[in-house]
Amino acid sequence: MRLDPEDAWGYVTTGGTEGNMYGLYMARELHPNGVVYFSQDTHYSILKIMQVLNMRNIMIKSLGNGEIDYEDLHETIRINRDVPVIIMANIGTTMKGAVDDLVKVREILQDLVITRSYIHSDAALSGMILPFVSDPQPFGFDAGADSLAVSGHKLIGSPIPCGVVLTRKEYVARIARSVEVVGVMDTTIPGSRNAWTPLLLWYALERYGEEGFRELVSGMLAVAEYAEERFNDSGLPAWRNPNSVTVIFPRPPQDVMTKWQLAPHRDIAHLITMPHVTRDMVDELVDDCLAAVQV
Ligand SMILES: Cc1ncc(COP(=O)(O)O)c(C=O)c1O
Repeated sequence: MRLDPEDAWGYVTTGGTEGNMYGLYMARELHPNGVVYFSQDTHYSILKIMQVLNMRNIMIKSLGNGEIDYEDLHETIRINRDVPVIIMANIGTTMKGAVDDLVKVREILQDLVITRSYIHSDAALSGMILPFVSDPQPFGFDAGADSLAVSGHKLIGSPIPCGVVLTRKEYVARIARSVEVVGVMDTTIPGSRNAWTPLLLWYALERYGEEGFRELVSGMLAVAEYAEERFNDSGLPAWRNPNSVTVIFPRPPQDVMTKWQLAPHRDIAHLITMPHVTRDMVDELVDDCLAAVQV
């Protein structure tokens, strides 16, 4: 995640939601009166986290491809320049796999001379894709993130939900409290934690290694490209964001949605070419969509 291990601190969470909650909790402890900005395309759990943490927040419009609308972000921060800015950046949105451009976000902060800011990257899925492609969008600590959450049950494929949250060591010292009864510093959201999930993640990382993940990701992207082409060749407009395994296509009738357990949003549906998705499955799905449209 492009953070010097010497400066890094993190732990294995119960999943994306806890990782995002931890990052935003950290942001609140560093900037108690900060306002959190996130796009319309952000995962629904973020609004819940805002309620739990009781943080002031403003939802920003999204662009058509699912990225945050940079003009709306600029204008909204401009009228709230007196308070710290906390950006909840999507590194792969749930529905469209869009990656918010951290370079543009930082340019906005510089342009408005914002001196107190914090960026949390929600990299639930793409956090395990972008490190393994040749031309990744900026996503990690080198791009300005102060914390980052990645899911363990998405691309890594842990059969028990889990995730990893990472941040800078220096920040954690700000929230650590000494707890006599357990004899350690309290730095995590839960007290007792699952001991199996770190083993499962360790096992997967050892088994695949960096090269193995590179191959896995490259195969997933190739199937995504195939799916995009197959839909378009069949006259069903499909598209996807750069480096994304999420292919968006017109929402098919309910029987196709049910058969394939597709996730809808208004008039679109998506498929995500996780490692088990084959070209044959894509062919069958496209044929089903086409047949349903023709009926
Ligand atoms: C982008 C994104 N963030 C957060 C979450 C929440 O993750 P979890 O269900 O692991 O808590 C999801 C889940 O799909 C997601 O897609």
